[in-house]
This record gives sequence, structure tokens and C-alpha cells, in this order.
Amino acid sequence: MENNPIVNLQKDLQDMSSAATDKISAAQDKDTLESLRVEFLGRKSKLTQILRGIKDLDNEGKKSIGQLSNKIKSEIENKIDEKIKNLLEEKFKNIEQTVKIDVTLPGESNRIGHIHPTTQLTEKIEDIFMQMGFEVYYPYLLDDDYHNFESLNLPPEHPARDSWDTFWTEDGHIAITHTSSMQNRIMRDSKLPIRAIVIGRCFRNEATDARHEHTFNQVEGIYIDKNITLPDMLGTLKEFFSKFYEKNVEVKFTPDFFPFVEPGGMMSLTCVICDGKGCPLCKQTGWLEILGCGMIHPKVLEMGGIDPNVYSGFAWGVGLERIIQLKYNIGDVRLFNSGNLDFIKQF
Ligand code: DAH
Repeated sequence: MENNPIVNLQKDLQDMSSAATDKISAAQDKDTLESLRVEFLGRKSKLTQILRGIKDLDNEGKKSIGQLSNKIKSEIENKIDEKIKNLLEEKFKNIEQTVKIDVTLPGESNRIGHIHPTTQLTEKIEDIFMQMGFEVYYPYLLDDDYHNFESLNLPPEHPARDSWDTFWTEDGHIAITHTSSMQNRIMRDSKLPIRAIVIGRCFRNEATDARHEHTFNQVEGIYIDKNITLPDMLGTLKEFFSKFYEKNVEVKFTPDFFPFVEPGGMMSLTCVICDGKGCPLCKQTGWLEILGCGMIHPKVLEMGGIDPNVYSGFAWGVGLERIIQLKYNIGDVRLFNSGNLDFIKQF
């Protein structure tokens, strides 16, 4: 009998079960009980070892040891849970008499409230770019003409200023129309090479609809070093979007005009809804135009104190809500600022 492995295992299990029961009834606090849970049910516990060894037993052994182990496992689990519950009940039983409770205080919880999806994904974007060696900046929400326009190769009276429907204050300041407003400061204040993103709120004086908001967020990026070329930009953005959408995406560049870049263009992404196969969202093209970008204009570099004969760089700007909308298939941009809890709680 002594050498029958199944009988021995049964005995081991019974012994373990009574040891656990004794320790559980002696335990006086939750931490001790949680460490008993690890001791008796954790990865290194005797029970787990026995469960792992079951596959090597004969059929009868598999059945009897399997059943017994599972029974003991759930008994121990239940005993621990029950004991924790009893301890808590005990603790709070006479609490009204011993502690004064202010019922208007918020509950004790790790998560009070809910983090807005824009904040959640702002953090995610910052993490991805920081891992790629970028520094993170936040814009001044109210800035001057020089930083929002002039230093970006948009002198006063430049017709392209009309592309940005601008809120002006009476004393001539601007509620920034884009996070490109930080480019000049970053160039002046940083040592080369520069890798930076600017993430924050922007404003446009325009009517709102499902695709337009007066208040939204942008992520601007700049990368300046010797010998930087357009393919470096496409590689950087492909890497970013593949991480952001958690799948491999392709990118392509189509020429377009922005005064602060030359060549400038729009970058498209393989449609993240249909993965490039063609769907109503991408109008069957398989591509989504997603951001403005290009090689930083020599005049912009010069105004930032950087010699365009030695250095080159790229820049891009993308709407944060737009890329979040595509990630979660959100139809209406106005939901972001709506304060609608049913919307926010989904993230
Ligand atoms: N600032 C532009 C906008 O708000 C977006 C943009 C386009 C930023 C091209 C850039 C760029 O840095 O190179 O529409």
C-alpha cells in the first residue's frame, strides 16, 4: 500500500487540505489570507504540482486524483473567500459606534470617475513616441501671430492664412489653430538633433458638424538632423501608426501645399476599417488621407535658428480625435466634448 502512488497522492492532498484549513481559520487579516491563497493554490503550490503531474498517471489515477484535487482546490478557495468576507463584516459591524463617517465623501476605490478617451490615447501616443526617442511638448493655448503663423512661413497678408478659421482676441492674440505653433520655439530652445511632438488643444472659428469641432486636439511632430529625407518620415509614421492601431499599416505620400513644408503633402494610411480591401469609409480606395506633412521649409528652419544647408527635417500634424475615431469607429466628433457619460464609459 505504502508504495501505491495514487494512495500516496491522495494522502498528500488530504494533508494539504487540513493544513490549509487550520491556517485559514487561524488567519486574522486579509493579507495573510491572500498569502495563503498563493501558498496553497499558487503556481508553486503542492496542489499545482500535483495537477501538473496528473497527465502521467494511469486512467484511474487521472480520474480520482483529478477529481480530488479540484474538489480540494475549490474548497480552499471558498474557505479563503468566506473568511475574508467574515473578517470584513466583523470589522464594519460596529463601525457606526466607533468611527464617525462622513457619508458625503467619495467612496474608497482605486478608480474614482473615468478617464476620458482623449486623455487615455494622448498618454498612449506620448508613450509610443517617447519609446521612439521623441520629447513631448504641450502648446500655449493662447499664442501670438508670430508663432501661430509668421514663423511658419505665413507672413501677414499671406492668402494661405485663410485656410485656418481663426479666433482672435481683441488685443491680437490667437487661440492656436494648430500645434505647429510650437515649432519655432522648439527649434530655438533645443539642441540638434531634434525629435519632438506637441500634443494639445487647438481652436477653429467654424460651424460644428459630425466632422468639425471648434475645439479639438492635434499631434504635431518634428524631426531635424543631418541628412533627413522624406522616406525617414514615412518610416517614422508607419511605425507610429502600426503601434497605435496595433496592426501593420502601409503609408503613402501625395503632394499638397502647406506653406511651412516643401515638398508638402498628405499622408494616407491603409484603411484601418477594411485593412485596404475597400469599404464605404475609404470610398473603396483602401486608403485614408490622415495627415498633413512634409520636409520643413528652409525659411522655417532659418527662422528657428537652424542652417538649412546643413540640416533638414520633416514635420507633420494630425487630428487626435480623427485617429481615435478611426480606432474605435466613432461616427461623430462632437461626442468627445459632449460630456456624455454613456459615450465616455465605453472606453
Ligand atoms: N498645421 C496643419 C493644420 O493644422 C497640419 C500640418 C500640415 C502640420 C503639414 C505640419 C505639416 O507640420 O508639415 O492643418
